[in-house]
Amino acid sequence: MAEQTGHKVGICDTTLRDGHQSLLATRLSTADLLEVASMMDEVGFASVEVWGGATFDSCMRFLDEDPWERLRKLRKAMPKSKLQMLLRGQNLVGYRHYSDDVVDEFIKHCVGNGIDIIRIFDALNDVRNYERAMYAAKKEGAHVQAGIAYTISPIHSIEYFANEACTLKEMGADSICVKDMAGLLKPYDAYELVKAIKERTGLMVQMHSHYTSGLASMSYLKAVEAGADVLDCAMSALALASSQPAAASLIAALQGTPYDTGLDLDQMSAINDILKRIRKKYAKFDTTDYRVDTNVLRYQMPGGMISNFMSQLRDQNALDRLQEVLEEVPRVRADMGYPPLVTPTSQIVGSQSVLNVLLGERYRMATNEVKAYFRGEYGTPPAPMNPEVQKKVIGDAEAITCRPADLIQSSLQQARKEIGPWAKSEEDVLLYIMFPTVAKTFLENRMAGETKVEYQMMGIEEGKDGKEVDYLPV
Ligand code: CO
Repeated sequence: MAEQTGHKVGICDTTLRDGHQSLLATRLSTADLLEVASMMDEVGFASVEVWGGATFDSCMRFLDEDPWERLRKLRKAMPKSKLQMLLRGQNLVGYRHYSDDVVDEFIKHCVGNGIDIIRIFDALNDVRNYERAMYAAKKEGAHVQAGIAYTISPIHSIEYFANEACTLKEMGADSICVKDMAGLLKPYDAYELVKAIKERTGLMVQMHSHYTSGLASMSYLKAVEAGADVLDCAMSALALASSQPAAASLIAALQGTPYDTGLDLDQMSAINDILKRIRKKYAKFDTTDYRVDTNVLRYQMPGGMISNFMSQLRDQNALDRLQEVLEEVPRVRADMGYPPLVTPTSQIVGSQSVLNVLLGERYRMATNEVKAYFRGEYGTPPAPMNPEVQKKVIGDAEAITCRPADLIQSSLQQARKEIGPWAKSEEDVLLYIMFPTVAKTFLENRMAGETKVEYQMMGIEEGKDGKEVDYLPV
C-alpha cells in the first residue's frame, strides 16, 4: 500500500538521448528526432534528455550532422520543455580531460543554445572533476544536476554515496541524480540509498537506471516510496533491455496513488507509434538480442562491455577465453581501486583485462590509458590502487595527487589557430577541440558542400566524370 503522504512524481524522457544511444548505437538522425519532438513537448515531462553523452560525437562521426545545430532545432521544436543533457565532468562529451577554458566555453554554448539542466558526473566520482563544469554551469544559469555513478564494491556503501551527495550539494548542486548505468541497483538498496540522500541533502533526487538486469522499474518504485522526485524513462518503443524503463509502465503503476505523475497514456501511445516505425529504419544497429541479462549482476559490468569483449576476442581468434576475461575484470578493477565501470573507465578496465588474459602475464603490457590511470591522471579512485601493480605499470614515475585538470594548459586559443578558416564560429572550434580528426573532416566537407552550391549557382558544372570537383581553398 502506498503511503498517504505521497508526492507528485515527475518523468524525464530520455528517448532522444539515452534511448537510442543504448539501443541503436546513437544513430537516430535529427530529422527523426524532430518527428516526435513537438509531440513530446506537449506531454508535460519534468524534463527531456535530448543531448550530450555520446550523441555529440555520433552526430558528426556517423551522421555528418552538426550537434549544435541539432540542439538549436530541438530547442525550437520543444519550447515548453526543460531540455537536459549529460556531461562527463571535465571530459565534457569526450573521452579525456579538457582544459578549464574549454569547459567554460563549451558549457556557455550548451546553455546559449538551449540546455536548461546539465547532469554532470565523473567516472570515479572524484568531486574535483565536477568542480569546473559545475562552476561554469552555475555561471551560465543552468540547473546543475550532480550525477553519482552507482556501483557495487567493498567500499561503495550507502554512507559513501550519501557523503558524496553532501559534498556535491556543498559544491552547488541543485539536484542529485543516482546514475545506475549498468542496471545494478536493486529495489531495496534503491530505497535505502534515496532515503539517505534525501535525508542528508534535502535536494531533489532523480533516478537514472538501465533496464539491463530487469530490476530498474522495481527499483524506481522503491525509490519513489523513499522520496525520489523524477524518474528517467524512455518511450516504450525505445525502452527496456539496455535502455531505460518504459515511461508508460511507470505512469500506469503510479496512477491513482499519491505519487501520480498526472501524465496521459494516450499521448504516449501516439508517440510510440511513430517511434516504432522509426526504429525499424535502424534495424542494422539494433543489436539488442536479449530482453533481460542478469549476467550484469553476476559480473557487475555494463551489458555493452560483455559484447565488446566478444568482438575484441573474436578479432584475436580467442573467443574461448571469454570466461577468463570476465573473471579478470573484477581483479583489474580491484587493482585500480574499484572505479565504477562507465565511460571511460569501463573501456580502460576492459582492454587491460583482455591484455592480461591474452598475454599470459598480468600487466606485462599496459595500455596508455591504464598508464595514465595509474599516474593519477583520471583522478583519485574510490579506494587506493594496488601499489605493486602501480609500480609494474608506471615504474618509478610518481603519480599526481592534484586535480588532474590543473596540469592541463589552456587550449582554446591554440585550437582557434589550428582549425583556422574551417571554423566559422566558436562552436566549430569546440567541435574541433572535442574530436579533432572527425571535426576536421566534417568542417572541410561542410565548406566544400557550401562552396559547391555557390559554384552551381554561378553556373559552373561539376567534373565530367561525375565525381565532385575539389573546390577546397588551398
Ligand atoms: Co544512461
